[in-house]
Amino acid sequence: MCGIVGCIGNRSVTPIIVESLKRLEYRGYDSAGIATLNGAEIDITKTEGKIADLENILSLTNTACVGIGHTRWATHGIPSSTNAHPHADCSGSFAVVHNGIIENFQALKDELTSKGHIFSSETDTEVLAHLCEDCYNGDLESAVREALLRVEGSYAIAVISDNEPDVIVAARKDSPLIVGLGDGENFLASDIPAIRKYTNKVMYINDGEIVRLTRDNVTVSTLQGVNVERLVTIVDGSVQDAERGGYEHFMLKEIHEQPKALRDTMEDRLCELEGSIDFKELRPFEDEIKNIEGITIIACGTSYHAGILGKYALEDLLRIPVKVEYSSEFRYNNFLSGNRSLAICISQSGETADTLAAMNEAKAQGYLTLAITNVVGSTITRKADEILLTKSGMEIGVAATKTFTAQILTLYMLGIYVARLKKLIDVETSRHIITSMKSVPGLIESLLDNISDIEKASSRICEADCCYFIGRGLSYPIALEGALKMKEISYIKAEGFPAGELKHGPLALITAGTPVIAIVPKGKTYYKTLGNIKEVKARNAFVIAIANASDDEIVKYVDSVIKIPDIDELFSPMLAAVVLQLLAYYAAKDIGAEIDQPRNLAKSVTVE
Ligand code: AGP
Repeated sequence: MCGIVGCIGNRSVTPIIVESLKRLEYRGYDSAGIATLNGAEIDITKTEGKIADLENILSLTNTACVGIGHTRWATHGIPSSTNAHPHADCSGSFAVVHNGIIENFQALKDELTSKGHIFSSETDTEVLAHLCEDCYNGDLESAVREALLRVEGSYAIAVISDNEPDVIVAARKDSPLIVGLGDGENFLASDIPAIRKYTNKVMYINDGEIVRLTRDNVTVSTLQGVNVERLVTIVDGSVQDAERGGYEHFMLKEIHEQPKALRDTMEDRLCELEGSIDFKELRPFEDEIKNIEGITIIACGTSYHAGILGKYALEDLLRIPVKVEYSSEFRYNNFLSGNRSLAICISQSGETADTLAAMNEAKAQGYLTLAITNVVGSTITRKADEILLTKSGMEIGVAATKTFTAQILTLYMLGIYVARLKKLIDVETSRHIITSMKSVPGLIESLLDNISDIEKASSRICEADCCYFIGRGLSYPIALEGALKMKEISYIKAEGFPAGELKHGPLALITAGTPVIAIVPKGKTYYKTLGNIKEVKARNAFVIAIANASDDEIVKYVDSVIKIPDIDELFSPMLAAVVLQLLAYYAAKDIGAEIDQPRNLAKSVTVE
């Protein structure tokens, strides 16, 4: 978490850094700060709160042309202006911003304290500033290099010093960092959208590399001091992707962008006539994939829920065992050899620390690794054996929406692709699935055109202090996702259960009026779920059903119905997911919660 930026040029950098930080605010927003260097001295302004709070206290007359900035998601030390970055050394000659965790900070702090360094914050980051001071011998880059060789943990850092007023030094290990190249000015940031307004020319910095930026030059070298040639990449993606475009919140915009995200993700990949999926990017691995005997899906949060749906679909299509593991659990488990196994690592950001670490473990155990991600150039794309991109466009709201449905779609496409490779399904069957798949974006559009029942149901949920989501089979992961969305942005206590598990414990939670959201599309488990609905109704729960448009029966058993268009059972989770996203959105709006930036959360969790 946390976002860092830096800029060195010939114009005042303060507005540029503030603008870039706003685009990084999704990474953390409990405090923020900026350090500028006007040729003679460093000026640091920082505060608890959001970038808007920082903006309010920044000097508008600051003309410094060199600066670094930070938006924080607290790990070591409470959110406060003292713990906010940038951090300085004793003399105020060095300022550092950092995303990551310095694991041996206490030992380093003790050592530096015994040498007379005085610390002012509770953060791990501050040791970096004092280390730079300690290691400085006339060259900032060498000082940073020497300091980092003593550090254990993860970092993307940027450092400025009044000893060298025309340089920014940055480095990365296990936290993202990119450099943007301008005309007479250069930038650095945690991700591309932060600086996309200023340039489309970027360099990806790899783990173990240091980068030195001046106005006219950027050099990259390893921590060991070996120079590295780095290609410049021209990025696409418009600046408007990072704007709300008339919507009140990014989340609402992103919910409405789902039809486009799905169409873009399918584009050039669906061959309806042949009943096949064209994943050009997987061609070099076809033989290996054909021989896969088991799959492990690894992910966190919403991506994990997409993974459960993927498991159901892949097991059904491929008839091989598919496990789904939380990244944070997988990385410390005693897993079996990955020989002839595929690890599918799902991460919309491609930067989730636990997923990256789990993928490394899987690789070490011999798994073939396939990443499903939404971010071109993210760390996961540079570490996985194979990559499948979802093409959802940038997602800014902390709550994942359009990337979730695109992940499900990609897993389904993968299922058809592998099933055809293994000759497990015939053309007719896959053609039928593809035809339904193609209809999903249009059906989501029709669903988005009529949301009054969803708004009504959300106000009912807001009256309660908790709610439960139930579903079976393909609707079970959607129940989990519905509950996650609800708690994440509305702070209403919400849990998701397999409907069949109710009587094994959760039923005790149901009292008169408790909202239960039952995802009950027509399909294999319809009547079983209806049975579970009757169980909660018998305890006077208030049941909101998400059911098919053609289901005239359901209304007899529940208090309220939200209809989704009729479609093959395999795809109804994608439609139900959109309903649940809107349900959470309107509940959060009713309550007045900060929808795009829920408390305590950040969009990408780049620390363990
Ligand atoms: C979802 O709304 C959350 N923001 C969160 O659970 C997220 O899905 C999780 O942190 C995983 O992120 P990733 O897909 O970028 O790896």
